Amino acid sequence: MSEMWNSVAPGWEASAEFVDGHLALATERLLDGAGIGEGDDVLDLAAGPGGAGLAAAGRVGPNGSVVLSDVADEMVAVAARRAEADPRVSTAVFDQGAIVAEDGQFDAVISRHGLMFIEDAPGAVHEAARVLRPGGRYAAMTWGPRDLNPWLGLVLDAVGEQFGVPFPPPSVRGPFSLDDPELLTAVLRDGGLAGVQVETIETPMRAASLQAWWERVPKLAGPLAIALAGMEPDVREEIAQRALRAGADVARRDGDQIVFNGSVLIGSGHTPEH
Ligand SMILES: C[S@@+](CC[C@H](N)C(=O)[O-])C[C@H]1O[C@@H](n2cnc3c(N)ncnc32)[C@H](O)[C@@H]1O
Repeated sequence: MSEMWNSVAPGWEASAEFVDGHLALATERLLDGAGIGEGDDVLDLAAGPGGAGLAAAGRVGPNGSVVLSDVADEMVAVAARRAEADPRVSTAVFDQGAIVAEDGQFDAVISRHGLMFIEDAPGAVHEAARVLRPGGRYAAMTWGPRDLNPWLGLVLDAVGEQFGVPFPPPSVRGPFSLDDPELLTAVLRDGGLAGVQVETIETPMRAASLQAWWERVPKLAGPLAIALAGMEPDVREEIAQRALRAGADVARRDGDQIVFNGSVLIGSGHTPEH
């Protein structure tokens, strides 16, 4: 798992500002869901290049702190470079299912597009709850349904259609594995949280052109990057052409850009007070 994400760390570093811009409004709602404010100690799980945690650092003031953590050490290295100037932000390498921290250490735990990649999602929420203080808040962002996220779904479809099997395979926890509000609600409740709420936020995805969209997405999506890297160039080209044709059908023009629909879920809750 960490090897796969390490391999796309350079792509994430190059696109970090783009990803943070694309998700800026939804990230503010994530931080609202986790109730993050002045003086809070915050843990960002599966933080990748750290965009959500860095946004949290903007809220916690001089007396708060933020830990950016990820299972992939090269992602954490990217996060560390981005956080270098801020003494309130530190980094750590660990799996979200086995957090290296004492019980009750944080006021808030957040995860932006990380929870859906772990096999035992309720177990991961339970582990996050362990490191929260009583009444501490948890919020996770996941992608909404595949058909509401054609900017990613179409690329995965193009790979699947090439080989006549779904991609990623059903056995793999892919980006859409927590795309349903009821399922996300159940995961947070089963993880031991109270006051669980799930909201849907639109996150349209912009690109300079269809070609620019096709070139960016596979560099970010871990399983997809690995699959494409292992293919013959002519097969990759067929997949690219299929994705570009499908993209042309659904992307709309807005000035000198193209726009795809996008949608995320934000699930939040808190640990019991005592
Ligand atoms: C789609 S990226 C999201 C990165 C970042 N949170 C963001 O929104 O910019 C998913 C991240 O989850 C991390 N990840 C996947 N499985 C993990 C696990 N079991 N524990 C911790 N991190 C994990 C990957 O290394 C990767 O950095």
